[in-house]
Amino acid sequence: MIAILGAGSLGRLWAATLPAGQVAFVPRPGQAPEPARYRFQPLVGESFSVTVPWLQRGQSPELLLVTTKAGDTLEALKAALPSIASSTPIVLFQNGLGSQQQVAATWPQRPVLAASTTEGANRPEQGLTVHAGCGATWVGALNPTGQPLVNRVAQQLAESRLEVHPEQDILGRLWQKLVINAGINAFTAVLDCPNGEILERPFYQRWITPLCREISHLLAAVGQPEHTPEALRESIEAVARRTATNTSSMRADVLAGRPKEIDFINGYLARLGQLHGIATPVNQMLTERVQQLN
Ligand code: PAF
Repeated sequence: MIAILGAGSLGRLWAATLPAGQVAFVPRPGQAPEPARYRFQPLVGESFSVTVPWLQRGQSPELLLVTTKAGDTLEALKAALPSIASSTPIVLFQNGLGSQQQVAATWPQRPVLAASTTEGANRPEQGLTVHAGCGATWVGALNPTGQPLVNRVAQQLAESRLEVHPEQDILGRLWQKLVINAGINAFTAVLDCPNGEILERPFYQRWITPLCREISHLLAAVGQPEHTPEALRESIEAVARRTATNTSSMRADVLAGRPKEIDFINGYLARLGQLHGIATPVNQMLTERVQQLN
C-alpha cells in the first residue's frame, strides 16, 4: 500500500496512475470519511473514474508520498506520522526548497527522500483531474537513512508507468528547478500573465539580471555548480519560451486564492542570502510583492 498525504492535483495524478487498489490518501484532520472520487483525464485516451480510500488506522503503508503545499508540509506530517511506522520511506514532492530540509531535520531517524517532477496536472473543474503535461520524476535521498531505499522507491513509483529515475544528487536537481521557478513564478504572479509573456514586460526586463546575479552568488555559497548570471538567465528564458502559454503554479495559486509558495522559492533565497551575508534585495522584493497579492 502506498499512502499519499495531500489530495491536490499532484497527489491525484499519482493516485490515478499507480496500480488501483494499492493507494490510499492519508486523512487530514476534519476530512470527510467518504473515499475520494474523481474523474481522471490521462494524456492519451478516455477519462476514467478513480476512487481512492482513506488510509485506515492500523494500516501500515510501505511508502508515504507527500504532495502537500510546501507551507503545509511540516504540520501535515506532524499529524500523520505518529500512526505510520518509522521505517516507512517519506517522499517529499514539494516545490522550492526549505520545507524538505525542515522535514529531514525534524525526523532525522526516518528515511526521507525528495522527488523533483516535471509532470503537469491540474484540476480545471471540481471532480476532474487532468494529466496536462508529460514529464519525468527524479527521486533521491535527503538523509543517510533514505539512501539505501532510492532504487526501491523509484521502482515502486514507476509502477505508475510515469517516467521515474533514481537520482544520486536530488538536492542539485531541486536547486535547478528552484532557479527556474525563482526566475519565472513570481514574475508571472505579479504581472498576472502566462510564462512567455513576462519576457516582454519592463518589470521582468528591469529585474531579471540583478536577480540572476543574486542567484549566481548563492549557488557558489552553497556549493552548487557555479553559473554566470547570463547562463542562468538563458536557462530561465528557455523554459519561459518552452512553456509560453502555461499559467505558472504560483499564478494559478494566486488566481485560485490558495496559499502561495513564495517563501520556499524567492523567500528561501532571500533567507539563504541573510545566512551567507549575500545581499538579495531582488529576491526580497519579489517575495514581498507576491505576499501582498490577494
Ligand atoms: O511552477 C511552475 O509552474 C513550473 O515549474 C514552471 C517551470 C514555471 C512552468 O510553468
